[in-house]
Parts: sequence; structure tokens; C-alpha cells
Amino acid sequence: MITAEREFIDIVADILFHPEFMQLKNFKHHTTNRYEHVVLVSYLSYKNARKLNLDYRSAARGGLLHDFFLYDWREYTRKRGGGGRHFTLHPKTALKNSRRYFKLNEIEEDIIVKHMWPSTLYLPRYKESLLVSFVDKYVSVREYMAALRWVNPIVSKLNLDDFFV
Ligand SMILES: [Fe+2]
Ligand SMILES: [Fe+2]
Repeated sequence: MITAEREFIDIVADILFHPEFMQLKNFKHHTTNRYEHVVLVSYLSYKNARKLNLDYRSAARGGLLHDFFLYDWREYTRKRGGGGRHFTLHPKTALKNSRRYFKLNEIEEDIIVKHMWPSTLYLPRYKESLLVSFVDKYVSVREYMAALRWVNPIVSKLNLDDFFV
């Protein structure tokens, strides 16, 4: 019997081990690196999409590619005096980079470009896009909270992950 982890790796292996994509390890993202962040978003999106009978392949691949941009966003914003609209522009950069190296379907494209909703106003067209957008926010909050030591014992008691997988 094939395990969920094995199936997940099979679905995303060509992206996960692509040399250009692996450069995400060089960029800090929230409190981890960007590679770790997108892998966790992808895996939780895959697990939840499977549970909800959604297109889990697209959720896994779109989730993995949603932050595929290769620059330090703090430096990008600082150089532009606190502006530069990284917040709204990076989904488009991630889509451009993803199209360059991988073949995407419509759902995966929508997942990538809409993942900042509702900060960006374009509505997600697919349930999978909405799911990845929620998972991204959940993972981001968890990453920030993990850096606050006093929060950890409370979070582990709440078992928040149980709501998600
Ligand atoms: Fe993002
Ligand atoms: Fe993200």
C-alpha cells in the first residue's frame, strides 16, 4: 500500500528537486526559509484536498509553487523606501517563474496568483485556490507563533493541526 507521504513526493518530485526551485532554501521567509514554508503549505494542502475530495494533485503542486520568487522581500521593500508592492506583486512573479520551469494547469495557475486573497481582490476561481490560500495563512501564523516561546505550550495544548489534517 502506498503511503500519503510517498504519494505526495511522487506528485511534486519534479518541482521539489529542481535546482532553480531549490534556491528557495537561500531565502528567509517568516521565521524559516522559503523552501520549508512552501513544502509545508503544499503538504497540508494536499492532505486537506484529499480529505475534501478536491483535486489534491493541483493543490499540492500549486501550493508548492505559490511563493516561487527568488529575492529577499525585506531588502526589496527597504530599497523602495517601504514600498514596491511586494505584497501584491509576488504572486505574479511566482506564476511567471513557475511557467518558465514547469507545465501548469488552470487550477495550479489560479492557486499561485490568488494565494494572497483577500489582500489582493481577485477572487479565487477554484475551491483548491481557496484552500491553499487558507493553508498559507495558517502556516504563516504558525511560523510566527513558533518564534514566540511562551506561545508554544499553549498552541500544542490546543492541537490546532488536528483541525487541518
Ligand atoms: Fe505569498
Ligand atoms: Fe506563502
